[in-house]
Amino acid sequence: MHHFAYRRGASNQNVLHAEGVDLVELSGTVGTPFYCYSTATLERHYRVFAEAFTGVPATLVCYSVKANSNLGVLATLARAGAGMDVVSEGELRRALAVNVPPEKIVFSGVGKTKDEMAFALDAGIFAFNVESEPELRALSEVAAAKRRSARIAFRVNPDIDAKTHHKIATGKAENKFGVPFADALPLYRLASELPGIEASGVHMHIGSQITDLAPFRNAFALLKELVGSLRANGFTIDFVNLGGGLGIPYRHDEPEPPLPSDYAKLVRESVGDLGLRLLFEPGRMIAGNAGILVSRVLYVKRGADKTFTIIDAAMNDLMRPTLYEAHHEILPVVEPMPGTQALVTDVAGPVCETGDYLALARKLPELRPGDLIAVMTAGAYGAVLASEYNSRLLVPEVLVAGDRFAVTRPRPSYEDMLAAERLPGWL
Ligand code: LLP
Repeated sequence: MHHFAYRRGASNQNVLHAEGVDLVELSGTVGTPFYCYSTATLERHYRVFAEAFTGVPATLVCYSVKANSNLGVLATLARAGAGMDVVSEGELRRALAVNVPPEKIVFSGVGKTKDEMAFALDAGIFAFNVESEPELRALSEVAAAKRRSARIAFRVNPDIDAKTHHKIATGKAENKFGVPFADALPLYRLASELPGIEASGVHMHIGSQITDLAPFRNAFALLKELVGSLRANGFTIDFVNLGGGLGIPYRHDEPEPPLPSDYAKLVRESVGDLGLRLLFEPGRMIAGNAGILVSRVLYVKRGADKTFTIIDAAMNDLMRPTLYEAHHEILPVVEPMPGTQALVTDVAGPVCETGDYLALARKLPELRPGDLIAVMTAGAYGAVLASEYNSRLLVPEVLVAGDRFAVTRPRPSYEDMLAAERLPGWL
């Protein structure tokens, strides 16, 4: 569910709108390519997820900032009541900048530095998700030196196949994430002996874009078993963090993934009776369908074997198709007239790489130079993964709310790009 739909536009044709904003007009104002986010969709997704746990006391939904860290997006979610899951000091600073209460922030990641730990302790975050013994020892040193206590949850790796793309599975023994299930008990024992550590939670995150509840079911069963054995060994465990990972629909021709309400039912059945505070870290589920990438067709190129539609957005703006063979629906911004011919085409960008494409062999209504297209479901892991590769300017981001829009990250100028670097004195 999202708020991008065709409506009668100023040109008297049906034009894709972001809520009340005409995307042809917006493209004229902002220039292409650009990301466009819908406030109503962000708010709705947050609400649907949070409300699925109505009646479960003290649930904390920590939006996973890595999915989309645009300040406008974060401020929208903070205002809706979201906590945040951060993985770096940069993300933590973003969350604090939009006034997320520190007691609603958790800090994940396998490589937190001592400086980042110190910053997070001073900020007063709720908890650290600790991923190894050396990290535990480092955190203990930092916290003890500050005479503070760091609340932690060990991230436990359950060795479960999340049945998702191999580059976004995190809960298998071969992945770098978490501590092995078998090591958990000795680690909680060690944590109880170290200064500055309060190990009162358990964390699990088995992967992303998970479209089948079975891996979650298996992971939550292991989590329950672990909480039971920790408690039986005298440890006080009062919260579990179930991570993120719930998949979203990317294709219109595939069955819908489980709904947040299905997921919530499973959570209640699995761990609802343990008297635990429940934390979640959804990212994609909140931001994915709340964003699109708008681009303009530059050329239609007939190759020997194929037709290539060359657009002004490229792999550096949206990496997902190249990195994960991800499918994103592509819609013409102006709805084609009935009877418009369909064509099978690769949709590729200007970057000098064979892997630079946003779609391969895609059936689309015939497009012409100057036409606008919208790459759908690009709100999560889109702009955050963008780079300046080929010295292309970073793609701007626009937030829409009803009939209003704001450029929340302007397109830099070429002067900005060059000014970011320094020539060495000897040249
Ligand atoms: N919590 C932790 C510890 C994570 O590592 C992640 C995602 C999340 C929560 C949020 O997961 P979500 O609800 O969004 O699935 N760039 C990839 C996805 C990488 C996911 C990384 N971790 C993609 O575009 O598919």
